Amino acid sequence: MGLRVVQLLAGRDFARRPRGVHPIRTRIFEFAACMQNYVYAIADVDSRKCVIVDACWDVDGILEALRREGLLLAAAAITHGHFDHTGGVPPPPFSSLRIRVSGVAELKRRMPYLPLLVHPLDIPDVIASNPHLEQRHFTPTPNGFAFTLGTSTEITFLHTPGHTPGSQCLLVNECRLFSGDTLFPGACGRIDLKGGSLSDMVESLQSRLRAIPDSTVVYPGHEYGGEWTTIGREKKRGFLRHAGEGSAHDKWQRLDSRRCLGSHSSVGHSLTDHSPADDPSFW
Ligand SMILES: [Fe+2]
Repeated sequence: MGLRVVQLLAGRDFARRPRGVHPIRTRIFEFAACMQNYVYAIADVDSRKCVIVDACWDVDGILEALRREGLLLAAAAITHGHFDHTGGVPPPPFSSLRIRVSGVAELKRRMPYLPLLVHPLDIPDVIASNPHLEQRHFTPTPNGFAFTLGTSTEITFLHTPGHTPGSQCLLVNECRLFSGDTLFPGACGRIDLKGGSLSDMVESLQSRLRAIPDSTVVYPGHEYGGEWTTIGREKKRGFLRHAGEGSAHDKWQRLDSRRCLGSHSSVGHSLTDHSPADDPSFW
């Protein structure tokens, strides 16, 4: 189908231990490895053009990976405005350290004409972490926005609020879904952070993502429960199970029943679990 997906994991494929003595960069890369962020290149095989998804932590390492794969960067997409997916100034208490994490602002500085594909509702958060970026630097991607790559690859942007107001998933050629922090294997993203919404998350999961064909492969934004899953698998045993009727809170309790039943799961994370970095501020 002319589509190629390159999955890059922080700490393994980029943001690896730097050569020489770079105390700050070393610390940033260690943190990136703990956060287990995935960065993706969605590539059109014929043209070798690609869209990079959530380029953060180490732009040099990410561009080097694209060069290794022989890919040409055509655009950068952001699934949501959290710092670990965009880079820039980290949130408190790390903001006092006066560090800047390489990410989309660095990409835009090097390639001024590179489209930055972000849902309009999360653009303010990206600018807050990256004060050198302005509204005019972004290509807003409302629900249903389509971006064509080469001759045979079409990316459709699906607005899936809940984790953040402007969270979005990228559906490629109607068979691959890049789910950011909305959907993970066996779990979904947190809804208790700034801008999070239980009712929006339930609607995004139960209406928008459940409508996608079962065979669709899902690539999550972090390596918290596995490298990939499918819509069908999440409908059977994940957060795309049918939650029935009732309020958003009732539906959520049914979806999150593993903990209510006292069972334990080694996959994913849900509302109150901790990230590997054990810092709750932005994943
Ligand atoms: Fe996030």
